[in-house]
Amino acid sequence: MKNIILIGFMGVGKGSVAREVIKHSDYIAIDTDDLIESMENKKVKEIFEEDGEAYFRKLELNVARWLESSVKNTLISTGGGFYKQKSLKKIGTVVLLDSPFDAIIKRIKTHPNAARKIKKRPLLNDLEKAKELYKERRPEYLALADIVIDVTKKSALECSKELLKKV
Ligand code: S3P
Repeated sequence: MKNIILIGFMGVGKGSVAREVIKHSDYIAIDTDDLIESMENKKVKEIFEEDGEAYFRKLELNVARWLESSVKNTLISTGGGFYKQKSLKKIGTVVLLDSPFDAIIKRIKTHPNAARKIKKRPLLNDLEKAKELYKERRPEYLALADIVIDVTKKSALECSKELLKKV
């Protein structure tokens, strides 16, 4: 099995879809933000605040190198900016979870842990800036994706089934 690498904007539901995929397949799952947090023994938010975004991006590069050389049969869920790694396509089949900006924000705001979900994402704190980032990134996400799944109004389970059918 080739790795699957899940990309998409913050809050689109990469983690939730990954959890459903592993329940219904033989993939194991890892998450690039989780790897970075355990490497640094710090939360992503703290890394942004204490070490800066550039340092966080350097850690993403280290993770991408390790994934490319060492990981197989794995569903890799990524932070929203990880797609910029040049080796992305070498790591596995790139699957984009896609949804309009307003639908993503609605999804986060109606989550029972909405405040925590927004607080832990430094680049989501200012919604105007986040919208600009979305506009800049969406065409880049689309250009990289081998498979696109529109997640709008679908459950994580529905998205996972669609993903497993398409890979
Ligand atoms: C980021 C997305 C976050 C996390 C960091 C930066 C981004 O991950 O990697 O806050 O640049 O879009 P999620 O997409 O899981 O929120």
